[in-house]
Parts: sequence; structure tokens; C-alpha cells
Amino acid sequence: MTVADFVVVSNRLPVDRGDDEDALWRQSPGGLVAALEPVMQAVGGAWVGWPGQADLDIAPFTFDGMQLVPVALSAADIELYYEGFSNDTIWPLYHDVIAAPSFHRTWWEVYAAVNRRFADAAAAAAAVGATVWVHDYQLQLVPRMLRQLRPDLTIGYFHHIPFPAYGLYSQLPWRRQVLDGLLGADVIGFQRVADAGNFARAVRRVFGYETKSGSIRVPEAAGGVRTAVAKAYPISIDTSLYDDLARRPEIQARAKEIRASLGDPATILLGVDRLDYTKGIRHRLKAFGELLTDGRLSVEDATLVQVASPSRERVGAYMQLRDKIELAVGRINGDFDTVERSAVRYLHTSYPREEMVALYLTADVMLVTALRDGMNLVAKEYVASRVDGRGVLVLSEFAGAADELTQAVKVNPHDIDGLKDAIVTAVEMSDVEQRRRMRSLRRRVRDNDVTRWSERFLVDLDRVRRERTA
Ligand code: G6P
Repeated sequence: MTVADFVVVSNRLPVDRGDDEDALWRQSPGGLVAALEPVMQAVGGAWVGWPGQADLDIAPFTFDGMQLVPVALSAADIELYYEGFSNDTIWPLYHDVIAAPSFHRTWWEVYAAVNRRFADAAAAAAAVGATVWVHDYQLQLVPRMLRQLRPDLTIGYFHHIPFPAYGLYSQLPWRRQVLDGLLGADVIGFQRVADAGNFARAVRRVFGYETKSGSIRVPEAAGGVRTAVAKAYPISIDTSLYDDLARRPEIQARAKEIRASLGDPATILLGVDRLDYTKGIRHRLKAFGELLTDGRLSVEDATLVQVASPSRERVGAYMQLRDKIELAVGRINGDFDTVERSAVRYLHTSYPREEMVALYLTADVMLVTALRDGMNLVAKEYVASRVDGRGVLVLSEFAGAADELTQAVKVNPHDIDGLKDAIVTAVEMSDVEQRRRMRSLRRRVRDNDVTRWSERFLVDLDRVRRERTA
């Protein structure tokens, strides 16, 4: 196998193998892949990750100009490492225990073993002195493992989800091991300043290491002290890609077609999420349903389109959430639909990017009501797609995007009355006010796109490398 000077490691490869035997490769779900793919296309190098199916043991291959290095996961790995420790321990714990995390020693053991396999695969793919960029909560032990295997490497880690306050983090029985795993990296990146602060506090509390304005003094096993950087690097999207798509005549025509097919309501509201309890989909439905009940909105002039893409479907909390959402949608539609009109158009599926841009263009009001979210790239995609300068973004203050997108209509999704008022404000907002806010939002996502994000991170990583080799 050829080795690369730049290696990305993440749980998922950018493409997944579909479910059926002769299925083709398709884009993997989630914000991580959406953000990293354009970076990899531009920078080149190898991408180490899981191809999305149990026991799929395939040789490295090239896809869309990227060198992909698959790591096979067995059915048991998927159950204990992916569905278990990653998505039923770390995910709920790091999202402020919106759902209760489960702590199982067998899950932890398999998590560590699978992290070891990713570290081995990355070590094998990296050239001497290479830069390796590890991603997200599924692989928190990889930086330390990789440093032990390959002290010649420069290692970055980016955490795509929130890092919780110490009061919650300290529940984790393996809190020392996880922090130590992360501290193997030279640069540890977070979405928000608050996440980086929580991490530094945890490091002080657990290890007593000295932390100062984004740098941490880490004692090394071999003696000496190394400085690791731990800072916020808010992730973004390929803004010009969305802008270009939104200007295409066929996509604009599709947007009109969607509006017509919904019966041409005065207002289309839109939610687009992985079906996840962190996204606040139930809060959104509750607020919308009550607005219809109160008569502040009517099915004659407002339709909510909710795209909920299937996610982690074998994890209990996700199955229960789906049932609750579908019950709520059924009730609202049963109460308010007419023969011609539907209150909620619920779509349990995912769509190609072109269709998403058409939906964004159709949506007068975009509802991002996450209870906790690392960043939320859907908010940025919506803004990037509004080439007409119109549309209103309703944005939860608990999404990382809220730090940057200050001209959105901010909401606390737990406050249902406040959420209802915010939705009405958005529906009634004047054209002039929409344009004023959208101009500022668009400037922000244009200036801070995904290329800028990766450059900021990689420049810091390169600085650490130069200091070390100087
Ligand atoms: C979030 C996480 C990613 C994850 C994605 C999709 O964006 O930060 O690491 O890949 O969700 O979730 P899944 O479990 O399908 O990989």
C-alpha cells in the first residue's frame, strides 16, 4: 500500500456501501463527512474509516480522487463500539444527558480495541513525518495510541460534537483514559469556545496539568513536557457549492415545483435533521401544533416540511424517538389536515444535495431547534442557499452555529411559548428585515467557509510541527 503525507481518520469513510448486495457507494450521513469531503478533495491524501456495513473487508481503493482505506467492523464491533459506547454512552453524555447514557464495561473494552485498530490502520497509511488528522468522539483514544506507535507523526484531533461541563463529564468511568487519549494530539480542536473551556477544565481537574489560553502542558512518558493546543475552530460548509447550486435554473424550477405541490401556501417552514433526540424535533412539532390550535397559524397558509433522515436505528433511544415523532405528526395532521392541505409533510428519508438546496430555496422559515448540537451545518447550508437574500433562520442558542449566526432569530427550544413567538415573528417578518439579517448571515458563512476552517486548524498544527522539529 502507498503511504500518504496527510491522513484523515474518522469512523465513517465519506462513502457508505448501501444495504443490498449489489449496492453502490453513496455519501455517508452527517455533518462530519459533509464538511471534510471538500477539504480532502482539495488537500489530497488518504482517508481511513469504516465503509458502513458489517464485515466488509475491502482493500484500499480510490474514489472521486480520494484514497480510501477501509477499516472493517464486525457485527459485534458495530453493536458494542458504534451503537454502544459511541452512540449510547458518549453521544448522550456529551449532549448534556438529554437521553440517559449507559455505562457498560464490555462496550468500553471493545471501544478501546476498535480504536486500536483505527490507530494501526492510520499508522500503516502514514508516511514518515506525516500529518494525521483524527476526527470525532468515536476515536478519542486514537491520538495517544498513534503517538505511541509513531512518535514521528504530527497529530491533530477535531471534536465535532459538544464537550460537556465537568459535572457531567466526570460521570464517565473512563474519564482519565479518554482525556489521556485526546491529549496524545498536538492540536485538539472544538466547535465552540465553551467546549474548549470545558475540556481544559476537565484536564485540570483530572490531571492537574497547567492550561493557559488554549495551550496545555502535557508531561510525556519519556520525560519532558509537550505543549498541546486546545482551541475552538468552528466548522463550516463549502459555501460556494451551495451558492452555485442555488443559482441553477433547474434547482430554482424544482423549488417552485415543490411549493406548488404543497398547494402554494403563504409560508413554508422547514426542518432538516438526522432523526436524533438532540435536534429538538418534538419541541418544534409541539410549538407548531399549538400555533395551529391557537389559530395563530392556519393549515390554509402554513405548512411544515420535516425531513428526518434515518439514523442509528438499532439504538433504543432512537427507536423510541421515532415512535414519538410519528405519533405527534399523525396527531397534528389528523387534527388539522384538510383534503387539500397537510399541516406537516413528514419525510423519513434523506435526499441528494440538489433536492436539499431546492427545499432550502422553498423554505420561508428554517427551524433549527436543537437542544444541544456541536455546530449544525444545516443552518449554514440554508443561509448559503438563500441567493435571493430572503428567508428567516430560527436558530437554537444551544447549537454551535448560534455563536456565529447572530442575525438569526434566536430561541431556547425548551421554552415552548418563546419558540411559538419566535416562529410567528419569523412568519411575519418584513421583506426589508429578512434581507437585512440574511445579508449579514450570508457574509458570515461566505467569510468562514470550510476551507478557512481547515486552514486555521492545519496552520496551527503545522506551527506545532515546526516548533517540535526546530
Ligand atoms: C454527527 C457526528 C458524526 C457522525 C454523524 C452521522 O455529525 O458528529 O461523527 O458521523 O453525526 O452519524 P452516524 O452515526 O450515522 O455516523
